[in-house]
Amino acid sequence: MHKRLFIPGPTEVDPQVLMAQARPMIGHRMAEYTALYTRVIDKLRKYFKTEQNITVITSSGTLWMDITARNLVKKKALAVVNGAFSKRMFTTIRECGKEVDILDLEWGTASKPDLVLKALGEGDYDVVALAQNETSTGVRSPAEEIGKAIKKEYPEVMYVVDAVSSAGGDLLEPDKMQTDIMFTSSQKAFALPPGLSIGIVSDAAIEKSREIPGKGHYTSLPVIFDYYAKKKQNPATPNISLMYALDYQLDRMLKETPEGRYERHLAMANIVREWARKHFEMFPEPGYESMTVSTIKNTLGKSVADLNKELAKRGIAISNGYGDLKEKTFRIAHMGEWTPGEIKEVLWHIEDIWGL
Ligand SMILES: Cc1ncc(COP(=O)(O)O)c(C=O)c1O
Repeated sequence: MHKRLFIPGPTEVDPQVLMAQARPMIGHRMAEYTALYTRVIDKLRKYFKTEQNITVITSSGTLWMDITARNLVKKKALAVVNGAFSKRMFTTIRECGKEVDILDLEWGTASKPDLVLKALGEGDYDVVALAQNETSTGVRSPAEEIGKAIKKEYPEVMYVVDAVSSAGGDLLEPDKMQTDIMFTSSQKAFALPPGLSIGIVSDAAIEKSREIPGKGHYTSLPVIFDYYAKKKQNPATPNISLMYALDYQLDRMLKETPEGRYERHLAMANIVREWARKHFEMFPEPGYESMTVSTIKNTLGKSVADLNKELAKRGIAISNGYGDLKEKTFRIAHMGEWTPGEIKEVLWHIEDIWGL
C-alpha cells in the first residue's frame, strides 16, 4: 500500500506533477530547453519576489553547503548550529578546507539577531550561515530580522540561509531577508520529487566568488551564472524531466500565491501545535515553531516505531525524532500540498492508535 508522506521530505507529489515529467526528451542545448528553463527562472523570480540571480541545479540541497564554502569563505565563516542540518553546514565548510567557527545553540532553540551579532563581533568573519527551518528539531529562526541586523552592522558579511524545508511553504523573501544565498530542495514544500535544488544568489556573492580560487566546476557560482547570462541554460546537463515538473508545479504555486501557501501552512501548523499541547508538549522554544514540521515531545513515552507500523497499515507515514531525539520526540510534517483536513485525519489516526 502506498503510504501518504507526512514526513519532512520527500513529501507527497501530486500525480499530475509526476505526470508532467513524462514528456519526450529535448536536448539541453536546444531552444526548447532555453524556453523551459528561462520560464522556470522567471516563475521563481515572481514567486520569491526577487531581482536576484536564480539557478536550478540538478542536485539535492546539500550541494549548496559546498557552494557556500567554496565560493564565499575567504577569511572565516560563522555557522549557527541548532540541529543536525545546520551542523552539516559547519562540517561541510570545514571539510572544504575553509576556516569556520561554530555558534553552538541548544537543540530546540532558535538563532536570534543579538546572538549572531555578538558572535560576529568576536571574530573576523566574512560569511554567516544558518538554517531558517531546522528540520531535525522543528525550529524556525527569524531569518529576516537576523539578516537585517547583520547587514546593518556588517554589510560586507555574506549571509547564507538554508531554506531547504521551508521555502514554498513558509513566506520567505530573499530581498527582505537580505540574503546573499538562499537555497532549497525540490522534495520538501515545493512537493516535487527529489533531485533539484534552487539557489537565489546576490550579485555581491557572485562577484566575491570571482576572487576565490578552488571552486571546482559544478559548484562554481561564476561558471553557473556566466553560462546563464550567455546562453540562458545550465553549464552541465540538467534533469530535464524534473524541470518539466517544476515548471508545472510553479504554475500551481503562483496560482495559490506565496501568501496563500503561507496561510495554509500556518493553518496546518496551528492544528498540530494545538493538538500537541493538548496531549504532549511541543519541542521547540515557544514562539519559534516551524511552519512546515512540528516536533512533539514524546511525554507519554509511547513507542513511535510501533505507531508508525500501525499508521503504515492505514497508509500513512510520519517521522520519529532525529538522531538522539529518535524516541524522545516525533515529527509530523505538514508541508507541500497537504490541507488542514488531511492533517486532522492524521491526528485522528494517532489518537485512535494510541488511545488518546
Ligand atoms: C534544513 C535542511 N537542510 C539541508 C537538508 C539537506 O537537503 P537535501 O537532502 O536536499 O540535500 C535538509 C534535508 O532534510 C534539511 O531539512
